Amino acid sequence: MAESKQQSVLIINGPNLDLLGKREPGIYGSETLKSICDHLKDVGDSLGIRTEFFQSNSEGALVDRIHEAMGNAGFIIINAGAYTHTSVAIRDALLGVSVPFFEVHISNVHAREEFRHHSYLSDKAAGVICGFGSFGYECALRRAAMLLSDGKK
Ligand code: DQA
Repeated sequence: MAESKQQSVLIINGPNLDLLGKREPGIYGSETLKSICDHLKDVGDSLGIRTEFFQSNSEGALVDRIHEAMGNAGFIIINAGAYTHTSVAIRDALLGVSVPFFEVHISNVHAREEFRHHSYLSDKAAGVICGFGSFGYECALRRAAMLLSDGKK
């Protein structure tokens, strides 16, 4: 069973990402979170990776879900939304569970308001992707799969 735990990637989305498809489509595109997650599940299946998905608008729920990943996920891909720029609690949770993570943003946060330029996660992330639209999640998942498979060798 240890092997299936190692091959699991948890994809976490934070506040307001449940509104994808309706929310500021000029910035975030017209795809819904469900269609993004359905696609990521297919990509994961094709790579032999088990994908799990979680979205919440609540900081505490995100922290709780990160805690559940300890010993259960080989990698976390997180778009913490606005909490990226504010949350020491999410940073501490990610560090506390010792699961490597990628930080993803749909938009190029560095081309937006200055308050979006700082992240509480980036300096601890194994990698950061922003401005690739929803394809950024797929890039992160493919890279996580590569790293997980390298780790097994
Ligand atoms: C976001 C960028 C954040 O600044 C913003 O608060 C979001 C979405 C993105 O995916 O581009 O909610 O993380």
